[in-house]
Amino acid sequence: MSGVARRTVVAAAGSAGLAAALAACGGGADDKGTASEGAAPKGAALAKTGDIPVGGGKILADKGLVITQPKAGEFKAFSSKCTHQGCAVSSVQDGVIVCPCHQSHFDISDGSVKAGPAPSPLPPEPIQVVGEEISPG
Ligand code: FES
Repeated sequence: MSGVARRTVVAAAGSAGLAAALAACGGGADDKGTASEGAAPKGAALAKTGDIPVGGGKILADKGLVITQPKAGEFKAFSSKCTHQGCAVSSVQDGVIVCPCHQSHFDISDGSVKAGPAPSPLPPEPIQVVGEEISPG
């Protein structure tokens, strides 16, 4: 009787060992699936720091934002809606954000009006930079 019981225990241990080995092999795929789900951004990042040129900026039309990098490592964000008549700004060049409708120019460092009919600066928008990710602040 005890002999049978002993063989059963050994067989069970063998199965457990095999199961562990299989789990280890298949574990990579499971881990990968879990990791990619876990990495899905909750408060989606707006941009990567590398996307924003130093001395320039990037317009995120769908977010109504323009993100600039006046100096290396210094990031600012402003509303992309011109304070003149509400057009969306269309480009960032030579240190200014440009509205195409009547050529208002806004400074990339503080949104102030540098040229054109706009009566007030582009409103700043809060952002936070963590590592390489720029997110809503
Ligand atoms: S709406 Fe932007 S300059 Fe007129």
